Amino acid sequence: MELMKAMRTRRSIRNFQPTPVPQKLIESLLAAAIEAPSPKNAQPWRFVVVAQKSRDALFARIRVLVEEELAAGRIGVCVRATVRAMEEAPVFVLVYNRATARYSMEKDPVLARVIDVQSIGASIQNMLLAAQEKGLGTLWICDLLDVDPVLRLLQTEDELVAVIALGYPVGDPPRPPRCALADIVTWQTE
Ligand SMILES: Cc1cc2nc3c(=O)[nH]c(=O)nc-3n(C[C@H](O)[C@H](O)[C@H](O)COP(=O)(O)O)c2cc1C
Repeated sequence: MELMKAMRTRRSIRNFQPTPVPQKLIESLLAAAIEAPSPKNAQPWRFVVVAQKSRDALFARIRVLVEEELAAGRIGVCVRATVRAMEEAPVFVLVYNRATARYSMEKDPVLARVIDVQSIGASIQNMLLAAQEKGLGTLWICDLLDVDPVLRLLQTEDELVAVIALGYPVGDPPRPPRCALADIVTWQTE
């Protein structure tokens, strides 16, 4: 698939077929992810692929923790919609920042983290576009980062940056509107 077409047609997918995704296919998406640019080629990303029984166990745990947090009024209801959107996805890819431990030694730890996370975002987008090319659907998830017990469950010494739900899509969601270029682009020529 032509790159521009993959960019134009990629949508956030919230309904998935139960069909498992072959390991080789997932590997090809990760191979695309690591082609992203990174600061001084630091490659701050790390990925954990969760599938099959591990995926089911993790999803069940996340659902319980989110419902507990909702009942306690500690998180917003939009997280429930995200958990619903994960329900059918056969694979989760947990995306970590493996440079986290280094920040305490940096002159400006906040800036160092912002720079690394930009790069990890680029790797995620590579993964999503590669998935689109292969006929797979994805959902880039950050709502869970707001759920403290879920973070405690998933966080390692590396910061959790996002969770990607992955699988063969059901349906073809409409394209959410984009701001017109004229409203967000300024050309400076003199
Ligand atoms: C950094 C980031 C975090 C996101 N987090 C969530 C999320 O937690 N739950 C969700 O349903 N969608 C999430 N999304 C998907 C956005 O809602 C979606 O990209 C946006 O509405 C545009 O739709 P499109 O992806 O179909 O173009 C996230 C997207 C990005 C880039």
